[in-house]
Amino acid sequence: MTTLSFNTKYPSVEDLRSRAKKRIPKFAFEYLDGGCNEDVNLYKNTAEIREVELLPQYLSKHTASSMKTTLFGHEYDAPFGMAPVGLQGLMWPNAPEILAKAASTHNVPFILSTVTTSSIERIGELTEGKAWFQLYHPAKNELRDDILLRCEKAGYDTLVILCDVPTFGFRPRDIRNGLAMPPTMSIKNILQILGKPNWALQTLKHGQPNFETLKPYMPKNLDLKQLGKFMDDTFSGRLNEEKIKPIRDMWKGKLVLKGVANELDAERAINLGLDGIIVSNHGGRQLDAGESTIKPLSRIAKKYGDQIEVMMDSGIRSGPDIARSLASGAKFTFMGRSFMYGVAALGNKGGDHTISLLKTQLQQVMEQICCEKVEDFKNHLID
Ligand SMILES: Cc1cc2nc3c(=O)[nH]c(=O)nc-3n(C[C@H](O)[C@H](O)[C@H](O)COP(=O)(O)O)c2cc1C
Repeated sequence: MTTLSFNTKYPSVEDLRSRAKKRIPKFAFEYLDGGCNEDVNLYKNTAEIREVELLPQYLSKHTASSMKTTLFGHEYDAPFGMAPVGLQGLMWPNAPEILAKAASTHNVPFILSTVTTSSIERIGELTEGKAWFQLYHPAKNELRDDILLRCEKAGYDTLVILCDVPTFGFRPRDIRNGLAMPPTMSIKNILQILGKPNWALQTLKHGQPNFETLKPYMPKNLDLKQLGKFMDDTFSGRLNEEKIKPIRDMWKGKLVLKGVANELDAERAINLGLDGIIVSNHGGRQLDAGESTIKPLSRIAKKYGDQIEVMMDSGIRSGPDIARSLASGAKFTFMGRSFMYGVAALGNKGGDHTISLLKTQLQQVMEQICCEKVEDFKNHLID
């Protein structure tokens, strides 16, 4: 066996998840781990990816397998990246910086969320302009324009807009824990913090997590209730074609629509001149009665894969899951929770560990089935 480049105590994302659960307060873990309503969509995402089977071709000629993938003119070292996650600093202090740096070192994309705890400028600097930015749609055009200008100045060339948050997902754990909007900080949460001294110490060291990108627009010293109102007033989640058109006109870089879950929206994205779509159901956090992502992915990739870059997230937890998604038609894949489990479990080493782990697993699958290039995965799909 080749030397493994990750901590061998945690050879799976599930190992990272278990350690994360022990290390961080319950309200933070449940915010990360949960889906919505009864978690049906959350479980279906991974379960239905795992129904996809791959065909090995053992006697085929094989020289070497390479994970390198060119997307939007950039050659990445692997066909996966980090999906945007809000409030990352709540789960582990400094998480966006740790993950962005690891992504940049490994030459894979990191997508910064509008509502996470690091700023456009800081992540732009850490990744030398290689990160992507995910915009929550601002209610006011001036705010939208200002954020886009900041992205441009900080060197971002890929902008991701989001269509699957027209409402707040109904998440019973977050409601119970007071993390809904407006949030509350209860005695129960404080006791949970005291039970996780390492997390508490690190949080104290780095300071209370803030919405760093939004800070310039927020009134000072908001209490939690006012914060909820600010968020409600500032963003209008329901995206439509009228809101996308001016962004397309204004944004000179690549424009990606995330949250696509059916053929009609994929076709609209193409007609609006977008460069890519991420087939996603927000990791099962929005519509419990919806399909898992692997199903629309196959249909959309078959129909539109030659007209727009079709990417996918939701439910991927391993190298074989990435392989199954690529074989089903995804050009590129993203993960949200897997990387956050990594950083919550292993702190500063979590980003590097999780990328190395997934790369090792994916490389093994490629060599096992005799797949030399990422675009050849589809030849191994058992339809
Ligand atoms: C805790 C958490 C917060 C998230 N916050 C955002 C966000 O701010 N913006 C966004 O576009 N997607 C957000 N997502 C969705 C992810 O970008 C991604 O679609 C999802 O995590 C993929 O599913 P996976 O976690 O099973 O990999 C969030 C997901 C989680 C788990």
